[in-house]
Amino acid sequence: MRLILQNIRKLVQVDPKGRLWVAGKSMAEIQTINNAFLIVQDERIENFGPMEELHADEFEADDLLMEIDCSGKMVFPSYCDSHTHLVFAATREQEFVDRIKGLSYEEIARNGGGILNSARLLQEMSEDELYDQAMERLDEIMRTGTGAVEIKSGYGLTTESELKMLRVIRRLKQNSPLMIKSTFLAHAFPLEFRSRRKDYIDMLINELLPKIALQELADYIDVFCDRGFFTVEETERILLAGIKGGLKGKVHANELANSGGVQVGVKCNALSADHLEFVGDEEIAALMGSETMPTVLPGAAFFLNLKLAPVRQMIDAGLPVAMASDYNPGTSPSGNMHFIQSLGCLKYDMTPEETIHATTINSAYAMGISESYGSIAKGKVANLFITKEISNYAVIPYSFGSNLVESVILNGELIE
Ligand code: NIG
Ligand code: FE
Repeated sequence: MRLILQNIRKLVQVDPKGRLWVAGKSMAEIQTINNAFLIVQDERIENFGPMEELHADEFEADDLLMEIDCSGKMVFPSYCDSHTHLVFAATREQEFVDRIKGLSYEEIARNGGGILNSARLLQEMSEDELYDQAMERLDEIMRTGTGAVEIKSGYGLTTESELKMLRVIRRLKQNSPLMIKSTFLAHAFPLEFRSRRKDYIDMLINELLPKIALQELADYIDVFCDRGFFTVEETERILLAGIKGGLKGKVHANELANSGGVQVGVKCNALSADHLEFVGDEEIAALMGSETMPTVLPGAAFFLNLKLAPVRQMIDAGLPVAMASDYNPGTSPSGNMHFIQSLGCLKYDMTPEETIHATTINSAYAMGISESYGSIAKGKVANLFITKEISNYAVIPYSFGSNLVESVILNGELIE
């Protein structure tokens, strides 16, 4: 089966070289083809180019062809959302109201709200119900252009509930057309372990991680290394145990303080260091030349009114930057990657081109899939979206809150 997209006004984020990430000044340069075609065979991008190079009569008569006319429309590679917590039991609007009235996120967390609140609710909910709710969220993000998503555990906190979350993610992987990566997240200390932190970490390492490895329930391991959560030493211990069990590391780092999270992430060769509000010269120096993708989560900074990660400084220093939604009920209750691009432009002074790299190829790297996703290159998986009629791709971040996606193609198939 071949799918031919024709008369594409602009094919965006073309990268014949198939780079695995894009850094520094290059982030401002996006390759496009005007009046383009793109051919998908089975689930892969077979060919693309300017319309005058399309010779449709070359296809054998018995080739099953489906043609889509994209006149006036643009085609993009799907977003890769490399950081979400979209398996959760319930929204947390009461905390949202409490914060409006003056409580801080950290105060709410200290009083047993926040992550612990989500954990209580999740422990009570059945696996089927968690699965159904998460599937709806996947459908919602798919319709706003996301084609790949990383999903974390971390609202279980007990062995049993963490495994429950990871099983839900595995079922989502099996049944959703989105590409999904699964991450075990050491997220917070349950109340009963607050004065017995080592016991909790021993439990994670000796009881939970072997079960995760045995059942092959996770691709990555992540630790929330920040003030009030896991220390640098605790983070290193957990990451190294995960790595020993075959998982690649990631870190939640420097959201609330200069926690040392970035440095420990780099030291453990983490795939990404995420959040990065409290980042200065030392963290930037640590990230330079490392394998760790600096990942900014503008939705959480916007929702919590945090100081902003120094994205300009990072890009100007030559670093790559990825952006993800952090979709979760406490700090970023949205998985809309168009809005993440809008925030990138409006709050972080990124150009539209930089936000495209940050939400496609660089975020694909941050979830370990940039060889097959995140740009338009021959042989990559055909995860694409077709826009409504637009005259300039900058209209996407400009139209904050709108969804300019008209149709979605995942694994080479048009989603109805
Ligand atoms: O990425 N920062 C830590 N964890 C999540 C949110 C956790 C929550 O409040 O539910 C985040 O922002
Ligand atoms: Fe997060």
